[in-house]
Amino acid sequence: MNPASASSDVAVPWSHRHLVGIEPLSAGDIRTLLAKAVEYEGVSTSRAVPKRQDLHGKVVVNLFYEDSTRTRASFRLAASRLSADVLDMSASGSSVSKGETLVDTARNIEAMGVDTIVCRHSQSGAALQLASHVSCSVVNAGDGQHEHPTQALLDALTLAKRLGRTDGFDFSGLTVAIVGDIAHSRVARSNILCLTKLGAKVVLVGPPTLLPKTMAGPGVEIAHDLDAVLPKVDAVNMLRVQFERLSGPAFPSQREYTALYGLTTRRLAQAKPRILVMHPGPMNRGLEIESAVADGPNSAILEQVANGLAVRMAALALVTNT
Ligand code: NCD
Repeated sequence: MNPASASSDVAVPWSHRHLVGIEPLSAGDIRTLLAKAVEYEGVSTSRAVPKRQDLHGKVVVNLFYEDSTRTRASFRLAASRLSADVLDMSASGSSVSKGETLVDTARNIEAMGVDTIVCRHSQSGAALQLASHVSCSVVNAGDGQHEHPTQALLDALTLAKRLGRTDGFDFSGLTVAIVGDIAHSRVARSNILCLTKLGAKVVLVGPPTLLPKTMAGPGVEIAHDLDAVLPKVDAVNMLRVQFERLSGPAFPSQREYTALYGLTTRRLAQAKPRILVMHPGPMNRGLEIESAVADGPNSAILEQVANGLAVRMAALALVTNT
């Protein structure tokens, strides 16, 4: 998609039975989903607004092969707020630990009359594989280093709300820095696709060992000097170093990493006063982000979590009812 033409796309009728990534979505699809999330906002976080019936009688299964706190709880609550029946399953404690394959597990679950499977897996491509083997809907809750579409969508919703872009979700003129371990991050990959499709520019910042040159492209620049980038951007999305996906040390020491790429109060002083600070969690406080920044006035980190609920309600409703 050419980012220059992206912003002319308006919301379109939803036609996807699965949400395996941002890649297959058009700018219009993304806008449709974000608009639906806005519609669900009240019911997602306020107990005063009664549950919606949009998924009444439907069954949603959370199938998580990797650890998760936010994403799993968020999908569960989202499905409940839409009145679906929800089943939570994880690899440990199921037959997966006895050697059953992902597809076999999913087919067996599907045989119990499931409408949507929400899947997190350490293998890139797992969600797509699942979608091609089951007849129910599949939502990708993170597949290896590949994509994490609902995280990118909740980041986009947070940006839009804070920067006044909810009317049409047109991000042209905005620049977002994504900082840290880009190489191993499915959050970065989905964010790059989502932001550029909505018309924003993206600057990727990190040590060369964690930032492949091949990630540059239309609307996407690569940089290694965070201090030079910060004054130019409207938002900064700080990523965790994915130590569990590293095969060896990617930088000399954690101290050096923080000195070059950690977001500190001192460093933030060079940024635009209203810069938005985001982080998908879990945070390594003191490594990629200083506590005072994470909890400070520019931080939108807890808003991201709250917006995640509305986005996941939208994703579940749209794919399940298509
Ligand atoms: C991210 C993930 O699991 O990809 N977290 C999340 O979903 N909120 C990022 C991370 O683990 O660093």
